[in-house]
Amino acid sequence: MDPYKTIISCTNQKGGCAKTTTAVNLATSLAEGNPSMGIPPAKVLLIDLDPQGNASTSFGVDKRLDVPTVYDLLMQPSDGTLNVHDYLIGPGILTDEMQRAFKNMNQDSRIPPRLKVENLYLLPSNIRLSGAEIELATKLGRETRLREALAPVMDDFDHIIIDTPPSLGLLTINALAASNWILVPVQAEYYALEGMSQLMNSIRLIQKRVNNHLKLFGIAVTMYTPQSKLSAFVEGEVRKHFGEDVFQTVIPRLMSIAEAPKDGAPVVLLKKPTKRNKGSKQYWGLAKEAHQRILARRAEYGVNPESVLRREAIEKGDPEHIWDDIED
Ligand SMILES: Nc1ncnc2c1ncn2[C@@H]1O[C@H](COP(=O)(O)OP(=O)(O)OP(=O)(O)O)[C@@H](O)[C@H]1O
Ligand SMILES: [Mg+2]
Repeated sequence: MDPYKTIISCTNQKGGCAKTTTAVNLATSLAEGNPSMGIPPAKVLLIDLDPQGNASTSFGVDKRLDVPTVYDLLMQPSDGTLNVHDYLIGPGILTDEMQRAFKNMNQDSRIPPRLKVENLYLLPSNIRLSGAEIELATKLGRETRLREALAPVMDDFDHIIIDTPPSLGLLTINALAASNWILVPVQAEYYALEGMSQLMNSIRLIQKRVNNHLKLFGIAVTMYTPQSKLSAFVEGEVRKHFGEDVFQTVIPRLMSIAEAPKDGAPVVLLKKPTKRNKGSKQYWGLAKEAHQRILARRAEYGVNPESVLRREAIEKGDPEHIWDDIED
């Protein structure tokens, strides 16, 4: 695994701290790109590694659908015949699912034109994955199954983002073994800091035993209530302990963010990132910082990989629609 590749696990064993919301919005905005913010479009794979399947339902993907999921992928024998692409929901179907979900909830409204994705692929999950921790326990190479399964498609995506469950069990270990970065969302509330030292210890253990490429990508303060002294205190404590690792962008607690999955799409797609749409604006801001960190890390390693999206467009003889005024 190349250490500079962008494979980011969105992880915190604490439940409900916006892991899924952050993974989904980050994956979508990096895939979409935003010229005025200096974020080029990119080919992105979002992996739902949580049996709750919340990342899948964020796009309106029905968890009951009998489609192959990440569970089937993890349980496949790794005999070289595996084709990860068979397990992915591509941008066409993802767009259909989002629009269908939106229409279900808003029968009298027109589907917003923004409700489509082009470069985003989803490896979905559903409740069947809850058996995986036990079933994997007896399998050889149980910690690195996901890494092995992803190896053949590593060069097919610019970025891979993994949403993990609220535990440090075998699924999360698989995610961290397959990643080179970890993004930790921290809820700006009282108990937020309690699990952080356990999480940092777990990261050190993974680095030592399973994946010495794993590094902290950043800490995102989420669900921030502007009027709350407690939110300000928790943010201050997080910044005191983790310094530059903490993203400048803070994600506020807002209905628009919480309600977005009901309308079948992440807030960064549903709403334009304007002053009025603070939820979208802040998640786009986080994506911008994430992109800058990715560039900084590549510069550190002295690499400048070609954009997968651009490479594919050139292969198709159609490089025009990929703007490339941003040099990696
Ligand atoms: N900034 C926010 N403002 C308001 N609600 C939010 C915000 N971020 C997330 N939520 C809501 O809070 C709940 C938990 O968020 P989310 O599912 O992203 O957390 P999680 O860490 O993935 O949870 P789990 O540990 O169960 O996987 C969801 O209902 C989500 O819609
Ligand atoms: Mg979640």
